[in-house]
Amino acid sequence: MTRNLFITFEGPEGSGKSTQINKLCEYLKSKGADVLITREPGGTFAGDRIRSILIDKSSGDLEPETELFLMAAQRNEHFKKVIKPALDKGKVVLCDRYFDSSMAYQGYARKIGMERVKKLHDEFLQDYLPSSTILLSISPETGLNRVKERAQKNPDRIESESQDFHLMVSEAYEKLAKIYPERFIKIIADNKTPDDIFEEILKAINEKYGKLP
Ligand code: TMP
Repeated sequence: MTRNLFITFEGPEGSGKSTQINKLCEYLKSKGADVLITREPGGTFAGDRIRSILIDKSSGDLEPETELFLMAAQRNEHFKKVIKPALDKGKVVLCDRYFDSSMAYQGYARKIGMERVKKLHDEFLQDYLPSSTILLSISPETGLNRVKERAQKNPDRIESESQDFHLMVSEAYEKLAKIYPERFIKIIADNKTPDDIFEEILKAINEKYGKLP
């Protein structure tokens, strides 16, 4: 497989990923790149149905492993049917959440263990890691405030988790950035405008890949 640009966006709840992924998509398209923007859980018809089970409160408590296997199942569909074919056609793929979300949420916050999550992926997916992962890092205080704000607006099953759970998610992302320093681009997103954050993302990507696209 020709390894083209496969960039994932990660961060705790409310870190502003969607705004930034859309900005990068528009930017790359304006430069003539063929861009696929997608997200997880989801990205395929079956994946969107699995997403409903995962985030719908009516699913109630799920066993941590059940949650992991559902995340892995939708990823198997998504990677094999959508992401890999797009990369093989030379597209730039931008994905809102991916493997590292499973490492942070299921591996660390649900305490399954990051090693087990990684091993599971190694067993069923080949060459699945993104070329870059943009981590929108927010302080635990900002993160908790955003979780509280969301809690007032009909939060989904995972957003409704405890503050401790969300603090562990933030901690996990900081660990992941250290485990994969060559892949992670960490952007401090606290107290910055979306335009300022985007400028930093663009600068970091240009430094890594040379002028885009
Ligand atoms: P979203 O709100 O960013 O669309 O993500 C949906 C939720 O799914 C979010 O709370 C994070 C969670 N999630 C996991 O727990 N593990 C995963 O592997 C992925 C992709 C998402």
